[in-house]
Amino acid sequence: MEMITLTINGQTVQAPKNATILEAARSAGIHIPTLCYHSELAPEGACRLCVVEATGARTLVASCVYPVAEGMVVKTNTDKVRAARRMVVELLLANHPKDCLACQKSGDCELQNIAADLGLRKIRFEGGARKAHTIDASNPCLVRDQEKCILCGRCIRVCRDVQGMSVYSFAERGFDTIVSTAFEQDLGKVECSYCGQCASVCPTGAIVEKDDTEKVWSAINDPDKIVIVQTAPAVRVA
Ligand code: FES
Repeated sequence: MEMITLTINGQTVQAPKNATILEAARSAGIHIPTLCYHSELAPEGACRLCVVEATGARTLVASCVYPVAEGMVVKTNTDKVRAARRMVVELLLANHPKDCLACQKSGDCELQNIAADLGLRKIRFEGGARKAHTIDASNPCLVRDQEKCILCGRCIRVCRDVQGMSVYSFAERGFDTIVSTAFEQDLGKVECSYCGQCASVCPTGAIVEKDDTEKVWSAINDPDKIVIVQTAPAVRVA
């Protein structure tokens, strides 16, 4: 494999010629925050949280999609970079429900953790008016709250590229963009394999697994049924 040498934050790093800056940085133990990126999915470069300064580029570049080059000098933590990241997170939070402490994902939410890492206590912006969405709990395994969706597209990619299902896709445009099922049907009405992958890659509480504990226990306690408990849903074997 052909390797190249670059410098990240003053540290000499060797990386495969076709690597991205993010991959090179992570291989050297240098942290760059990400949201839309997931190591098991194709990168999309959508959220711009992973921006860095790199020689040869006139603006900040998204490190998850920007390729390394021989002799490149990268800076991942300058004032300019941090200001851009703060802006990205503040804009996301401006239109995000402020119920973190009551959210099922609290403590395990990537957006919440990144905001904390950036020391964000106040948001400078007020969110714009958007079409309101109700919580969709129609799927036997998943609960979907579109108000918490940050449009990272991870659910779309994992469902399409890993599961081969394509339950989700982007719909509408600009500020009104949403992640939608076909014809905006409820999740309980679409062809879903109940694999739970969309919930596992969702960085926020937009898609979470339904807590079926009670249902599973009552089935287990029914002497006429044997229950195999899977990730979701519980499968009954008569
Ligand atoms: Fe790179 Fe979103 S993580 S653009």
